[in-house]
Amino acid sequence: MAHRTLIRGATCVMPDETVRANVVIEGDRIASVDAPDSARADEIIDASGLVLMPGVIDSHVHFRDPGLTHKEDLHTGSMAAAKGGVTTFFEMPNTNPATTTAELLHQKLDLAASKSVVNYGFYIAATAGNLAEMQKAERTPGIKIFIGSSTGDLLVDGQDDLERIFAETTLPICAHCEDESTVRANAASISGGSAYPDHSRIRNEEAAVICVRRSMDLARRHRHRFHVLHVSTGAECELLKDHADVVTGEACPHHLFFSTDDYDRLGSRVQMNPAVKPPGNPEALWTALQQGVLKMVVTDHAPHTLGEKAAPYPKSPSGLPAVENSLALMLDQVSRGRCSLEQVVRWMCETPALVWDIVGKGRIEEGFDADLVLVDLGKTLTVRDEEQVTKCRWSPWHGQSLTGWPVRTIVMGQTVFHDGRIDEAVRGTEARFDHARGGYWASASA
Ligand code: DOR
Ligand code: ZN
Repeated sequence: MAHRTLIRGATCVMPDETVRANVVIEGDRIASVDAPDSARADEIIDASGLVLMPGVIDSHVHFRDPGLTHKEDLHTGSMAAAKGGVTTFFEMPNTNPATTTAELLHQKLDLAASKSVVNYGFYIAATAGNLAEMQKAERTPGIKIFIGSSTGDLLVDGQDDLERIFAETTLPICAHCEDESTVRANAASISGGSAYPDHSRIRNEEAAVICVRRSMDLARRHRHRFHVLHVSTGAECELLKDHADVVTGEACPHHLFFSTDDYDRLGSRVQMNPAVKPPGNPEALWTALQQGVLKMVVTDHAPHTLGEKAAPYPKSPSGLPAVENSLALMLDQVSRGRCSLEQVVRWMCETPALVWDIVGKGRIEEGFDADLVLVDLGKTLTVRDEEQVTKCRWSPWHGQSLTGWPVRTIVMGQTVFHDGRIDEAVRGTEARFDHARGGYWASASA
């Protein structure tokens, strides 16, 4: 008989209401969401005073495995995820080698099966020449196109190549949108830049807007599902508003919480692609989330070592770690009254599951996977570099005190994080996709 766990007395964020309820897990599934106090169980978790929510789905991380594992690997990245309340991650293809074939995709899936303590999935990269591979790939949330270049050498920005990819593939497409020629022209105009704040002059609003406009045009003409990664400006949100029927977009904590004003304090710790934007943009992103123009919050966790980050601009690499603090950062905003718990669950759990057609995740519902997080909304902790689980061992939020933390993370019925400790022996499972479902617009009840 499958192991039965009763989670008793938590305030549960269900799809339609937030109520005190008893949840029973049987094996790797949620068996009941309204069990009596006396329900039979092998294990009882007393969760009174805590909130139970679906596990966070972070559909945008870089875990660097294979090839760049001095920065992170699938074991350390997944442990950082578990600590942060993230029960499923989808990883980007700019590893070494890059994930450009179905075979390389399957190799990553095998690697994750042997190393990852949470559930996983991997995007396949678009190149100018791998159409057949993109058509063959199935076990993936979708295709990632670097329409603007970033870390690594993946770039597809020729119009004919993009037209072909949008016309001849069916998987959902997501893209890094920063216009390459604008970025190059901006860089040339300041001789490549010499200080970290130059990064935001080079990768400016115009670069993002031109590329998002171009991508939306492709998506609309080809009627192809399209998702804009890491939206960083209010101007992009205005564009998204006009195309909200075919395109979805995401916000990342670094763009919600940092602006160009933070270079003075944080230097290259806030150097990322797309770059942080001038003050006013974070507020615009929050408004877009509130209005439903941006649909979800994911991290773009992109670790580099502090040694690498210490290089002078422009040699310093772009990217920062976030997967272990993203939920706490958002719960802290709940404690400050900026958003509700239900919104956090929608942005970080429910919507990623809809956008990527994930089977059985993102909600506390009978029959769904037992991917769950218990959070203590009253717990205050200070983020510290030396306590980070990510292999790169730093956080741009070092020194910041946050209220609202995950205290137990459950992956497919197994407790992987509890009382500050991670069970390294737990293994997650491969996420499954039903792309015929048609994504957010076909699945959203709202
Ligand atoms: O800042 C970033 N870092 N943006 C990206 O698009 C890639 C990422 C990385 O892989 O380092
Ligand atoms: Zn990324």
